[in-house]
Amino acid sequence: FSVGEQSSLREFVNRLSSPFVVKADGLAAGKGVVICESSDEAIAASDEMLEKSIFGTAGDRVVIEEFLEGDEVSFFVLTDGENYVPLPPAQDHKRIFDADQGKNTGGMGTYAPAPIVTEHLRARIVKEIVEPTLRGMRKEGSPYKGCLFIGLMITAEGPKVLEYNCRFGDPESQVVLPLIDADLALLFDSIACGLLDSSAVKIHAASAVCVVMASRGYPDAYETGKEIVGLDTPNPDDGVVVFHAGTKRDGSRIVTAGGRVLGVTAIGYEDDLEGTIKTAYNAVGRIVFDGAYYRSDIGKKGLVHARV
Ligand code: GLY
Repeated sequence: FSVGEQSSLREFVNRLSSPFVVKADGLAAGKGVVICESSDEAIAASDEMLEKSIFGTAGDRVVIEEFLEGDEVSFFVLTDGENYVPLPPAQDHKRIFDADQGKNTGGMGTYAPAPIVTEHLRARIVKEIVEPTLRGMRKEGSPYKGCLFIGLMITAEGPKVLEYNCRFGDPESQVVLPLIDADLALLFDSIACGLLDSSAVKIHAASAVCVVMASRGYPDAYETGKEIVGLDTPNPDDGVVVFHAGTKRDGSRIVTAGGRVLGVTAIGYEDDLEGTIKTAYNAVGRIVFDGAYYRSDIGKKGLVHARV
């Protein structure tokens, strides 16, 4: 729905049952989704996007959807349009506070592979979603080449598509890319050339956990320019990589320059997600800046579904 279509928007909302999901149709840094308990709330949230432009032009059109109950999974597929390789499924932690409380953010941490996606479920996702999607795009004359990010809700009835993104995810990439056992430049080149050899792409038998360290106040207003110390303490030999997001150089110092500052990522044994979580948090504990905030439960939902 766009500006001027509010009366049909109202009519549509009144035909659905609550709760409702109101989304800015454009890119809104992962924040353009509001869950509304009543039709009044849904109409007010749409007005904020359409009339008050709280997400700028990203909210020039809004999408209203039914609310799906379940666990979210980020499912990535590399494809050259014909051949494809599914990557290890990841789970993001979108809310700012532990136990998925508080406001939506761009993502406060991730882990992969997500054991909620069993072999059986993965086969269903590939057959019922990935293959028809790629086939559909070929049929429409626009075969897709690159990384397709399928946002899924794993509901009681099975996997449902929430959205497609033509890109990798952040902070999902931080845990998915280290699990690919291949030269990424050669891999992406083969995709661009339509020569993806899916049998040649191996996945490490490992787990990865990324804890986002954010600035105090994020996802609302936050201060920047805080010196970050301890960046050299996590050791790649210990399976830890620190990805910089909102940082910048200030002379010889590294200072904060954004809401999500660092993605502290640990890579460990596939059957020891708990150990990989500990390694990530040990590394986080050695990095300090004024107002550093992070969730303390990244990856824990993976322990609930852990493979037996
Ligand atoms: N972490 C969610 C996204 O990249 O859209």
